[in-house]
Amino acid sequence: MIKQSDLIQKKNYSLDQKWSWWPLLPLYPYGQRPTLFQELIPNQIWSFEQLQGLYYVAVPVRLTVVKVPGGLMLVNPLPPTGELIRDLKILEDKYGPVSTIVLPTASGLEHKISLPALARAYPKAVLWICSGQWSFPLNFSVDLLGIPRSRTKTLQEDGFPHEDICSWFSLGPLDIGLGRFQEISCFHRPSNSLLVTDALVSINPTPPKLFDFDPTPLLFHARDKGDQLLLDTPENRQKGWLRLVLFASFLRPAKLTIPPLTEVLRNAFKPGLRNSKFHFGIFPFSWEQGWEESAKQLIGVGKSRIQVAPVLRRLVFPRARDSYIQWLDKINSLNSLRWLISAHYSAPIKFTLREVKSLSSKASSEPWVVNEGDWKFLDSLDGTLLKRGIVPSDPLSAFKD
Ligand SMILES: [Fe+2]
Repeated sequence: MIKQSDLIQKKNYSLDQKWSWWPLLPLYPYGQRPTLFQELIPNQIWSFEQLQGLYYVAVPVRLTVVKVPGGLMLVNPLPPTGELIRDLKILEDKYGPVSTIVLPTASGLEHKISLPALARAYPKAVLWICSGQWSFPLNFSVDLLGIPRSRTKTLQEDGFPHEDICSWFSLGPLDIGLGRFQEISCFHRPSNSLLVTDALVSINPTPPKLFDFDPTPLLFHARDKGDQLLLDTPENRQKGWLRLVLFASFLRPAKLTIPPLTEVLRNAFKPGLRNSKFHFGIFPFSWEQGWEESAKQLIGVGKSRIQVAPVLRRLVFPRARDSYIQWLDKINSLNSLRWLISAHYSAPIKFTLREVKSLSSKASSEPWVVNEGDWKFLDSLDGTLLKRGIVPSDPLSAFKD
């Protein structure tokens, strides 16, 4: 087993965390990407996490490292900073070289953007990508996206990597107008773990460790007005995290209002806040009473819920509940299933057939398309996209013969 003390190392924070390609997808924390390296399943699975987000609405994104015969398989790319490569070398020295890199999603831009750089960092690795890759606003081909075709295979069409120890399950494809939604989950038998990208998440009830590098996003959102200074207290970190997950999940949660511009400007540019780190005191948000209850409902009371992320459920799957249930039915055949490892939020999560059956029965019996409360904004967005013909009314029609 790799000791935790070996993983959290003395790091050179300035150079080792540099990510020069950040303008391709200009998300916080831009050119400086601290990485949290942890062992998830002893001697089998490891996690590398970085933050990615907009306007300090930053959530953890995970690259999962899996032990495979003779080496390592990387699932869901992340920017290969010096720090990440150095930490991966600890695993390579012990378990063998990175032999396989998998991009199991067709749509998740935050996962695909760093595949070319990661591929260059491991020139001997074979790449496996989900078919139907697309980009927005310009739809580039695989070559133009910078993915080296000579060592790239397509999941399903060319088979699957490491089938001796892994089983692969497709969720989708679905036509979502701008492109395709599809992700291919991996069941790694030696660890009894199901690896998913965006299909299921379990939101951490407290701020993830990754924010210990820099809690600014949490403290920024913990405030009530732009003229308040950012105060680092455990209460503010918690408050900021709950607001941040409401933002990330519902885009515009019910208890959030946008104050008039005159009020925003009146509270901006106050002493101590006149710099870009604090967005010059510009804080165009106001939270109404009851937002904590919304956060509790989202995350789960008592223990974190395993769920389809609200954005995915309401914008990708509103008319494709059956596809989601079919995917769960396939997972339901994995008798030894024990863990869920998602590319976002908490991992590993206890995940047995009991949890799979519960998700399936809830999806079948409870209302799937919710359009009230926190869901209202996502509902109106879906309605607009549908009305303008940007998303099809039948997301499966493009894939029928
Ligand atoms: Fe994602």
